[in-house]
Amino acid sequence: MKTNQINLTFSSIPENVGITRLLIASVGAQLDLPLNDIEELKVAVSEAVSNAIIHGYQNNPHHIVYLDLDISNNTLKIIVTDEGCGIPNIEQAMQPAYSTDPERMGLGFVFMQSFMDELQVESTLEVGTTVTMIKHLKQTPISSH
Ligand SMILES: Nc1ncnc2c1ncn2[C@@H]1O[C@H](COP(=O)(O)OP(=O)(O)OP(=O)(O)O)[C@@H](O)[C@H]1O
Ligand SMILES: [Mg+2]
Repeated sequence: MKTNQINLTFSSIPENVGITRLLIASVGAQLDLPLNDIEELKVAVSEAVSNAIIHGYQNNPHHIVYLDLDISNNTLKIIVTDEGCGIPNIEQAMQPAYSTDPERMGLGFVFMQSFMDELQVESTLEVGTTVTMIKHLKQTPISSH
């Protein structure tokens, strides 16, 4: 499998969520992933990026979100970073249906967890949050001819 790295830096505006969905869909297609897996990757990435914008930066559009993709060793690694407010209690934040916003469902982390093989959240108050998601890719069979 070819290795690849993509590093995207973008403004914390909701319009950019759609851009990240297109990017991950295109990467998934290049990796020959099934359509269902591509849909799941789109959801996982957009939930993480939305969280950075909505919660990390409290919808302030004048900040920067980082999306780093790394494909190597049959693994797709997706890292979403913000330099926002941070999460006071990560374990609590990851509970299904937990949200600090009564208007929200509190399901973002649930989707990330169920659609990815690994999910890791690191956060420091007033420093920011890094969400690392890993998907193991099937080894491409070696063609016999
Ligand atoms: N990047 C972040 N920075 C600060 N807080 C965050 C961040 N990501 C998540 N959180 C906190 O974790 C909680 C749970 O996140 P989750 O995505 O599961 O639910 P939600 O965003 O509240 O609702 P939904 O994703 O269903 O719209 C959020 O309500 C928020 O308090
Ligand atoms: Mg969310």
